[in-house]
Amino acid sequence: MKDNRIPFQKYTSRQEQLAAQYNWEYFSKQHKKGKLTAKERIELLFDENSFEEIDAFVKPSGNIKTNIYGDGVICGHGKINGRKVFAFAQDFTFMGGSLGSVHAAKIMKVQDMALSMGHPIIGLIDSGGARIQEGVASLAGYAGIFHRNVKASGVIPQISVILGPAAGGAVYSPALTDFIFMTRQTAYMFVTGPEIVKEVLNEETNSEDLGGADIHGSKSGVAHFVYDDEEHTLLGVRKLLQYLPSNNVDFPPVLVQEALAPNNPQKLGVIIPEEANIPYDMLDIVNNITDKGSFFEISENFAGNIIIGFARLQNKVIGLVANQPKVLAGVLDINSAEKAARFVRFCDAFNIPILVLEDVPGFLPGSNQEHSGIIRHGAKLLYAFSEASVPKITVIVRKAYGGAYIVMNSKNMGGDFNFAWPTAEIAVMGPEGAVKILHRKELIQSKNSDELKAKLIADYKENIANPYIADEKGYVDEVIEPANTRKKLISAFEALENKYMEKIAKKHGNIPL
Ligand code: HXC
Repeated sequence: MKDNRIPFQKYTSRQEQLAAQYNWEYFSKQHKKGKLTAKERIELLFDENSFEEIDAFVKPSGNIKTNIYGDGVICGHGKINGRKVFAFAQDFTFMGGSLGSVHAAKIMKVQDMALSMGHPIIGLIDSGGARIQEGVASLAGYAGIFHRNVKASGVIPQISVILGPAAGGAVYSPALTDFIFMTRQTAYMFVTGPEIVKEVLNEETNSEDLGGADIHGSKSGVAHFVYDDEEHTLLGVRKLLQYLPSNNVDFPPVLVQEALAPNNPQKLGVIIPEEANIPYDMLDIVNNITDKGSFFEISENFAGNIIIGFARLQNKVIGLVANQPKVLAGVLDINSAEKAARFVRFCDAFNIPILVLEDVPGFLPGSNQEHSGIIRHGAKLLYAFSEASVPKITVIVRKAYGGAYIVMNSKNMGGDFNFAWPTAEIAVMGPEGAVKILHRKELIQSKNSDELKAKLIADYKENIANPYIADEKGYVDEVIEPANTRKKLISAFEALENKYMEKIAKKHGNIPL
């Protein structure tokens, strides 16, 4: 009988051939462009020697003749911080990392594996987009990847790392994932490139200005994390994963160590300025409540009037949403509402309890915001908080006015514990506006209107805009001393560990998009 088995020797020679692929030329092609190779990126991303490649020996579809294995993408699984993760890394040295049908099939295979096995997936993107020679087959490949991105959304964390070009429709796979990392100078993302922009609009631009890392990290909000080089970008991905569960039925990792309490909780009592219109840095409050050094900010340079990020409280991960009075007085606008809404939904999908630190004077007024749809965009945050079934706690540290008070996880929107500091001002609107409306006639008729106004404002603060009224009516569960905030939160989140919410059976809601 004929023995059809491939002799092992033949197999090892194939491995030698594969290893030989990664020669000096392979590395220098990328290094010349200031980029690392797919191989190096995988090594930096994963724990040492943990990566297992699959489909290493595939070749591109029939009409492309080559001796090179892999079809321009490395796929597989390994460990990051000791936990299993799937990944694919596009290899620009082979046909510009372009996506042909086999390349796409490899990516889809790891997407399917990650989803069915319940592990995060990371895509390292460096690609000229759809492989031109393969025509519609490469477009179909992208469609298959997008479809799987959507299927996996809310089931496993999906992370995209842009380390080179991501152009045309190819940007939509990253856009469907949970977090996007980009590297300055070498990464760019756009739907239409600078040449087409010039042709259609006669507008002069370049890749960096049109879709570089800083533009997406600060202006468009597309990128959540931006780093100077690939090494730090990949370290950033490793750090992010420390805060995430592997899937939607898992819980975020709890550190096993003596929790590092912040340096100076007493400082919390003196952060809020005496004058209500003086700004301060909300990060001072964040860092004096959460475990020392644990706060990991997301979208740091986009919509700075709201802060989002992960932190730990007594070693357990929380998602943090906080107004930032230092930027636009912490007002809510279109970008900040969207930024926070998407984050709240991520936390809810992945069992991450949410802490809200509130100091919000209201929504940003003006025709620009109104005409750009603040009504529907603001509603996203309202919807996201209200829908979230994870533990949700709000601490009002200063202003909580009007609709913005309601939005920021107020009691009747489903807040589980709602605390306020003695400095909280909870009311329909700020004192100035309220006094003008309520006492317009008296103020016009008064001979000393400034003095009268000051008195009326003081009365308003004393009798209406203080936290004790909300406390008496149960809209706030407790007015707490700032220095006790951490202790109160640890205890409240502990109480919420068994929180269970029955969900009404429906296909899905209709969040205002
Ligand atoms: C096939 C491609 C390719 C592609 C690059 N290459 N893009 N091969 N299909 N899409 C090949 C080049 O021919 C070249 O091969 C090698 O990759 C390296 O490319 P260079 O141009 O030399 O590199 P560089 O100067 O760094 O420029 C990179 C680039 C440029 C800006 C990405 O290659 C480029 O503009 N490519 C086309 C991008 C594009 O329009 N793609 C389609 C987008 S639309 P050799 O053999 O010379 O080394 C799209 C639709 C997705 O993707 C739809 C999803 C729904």
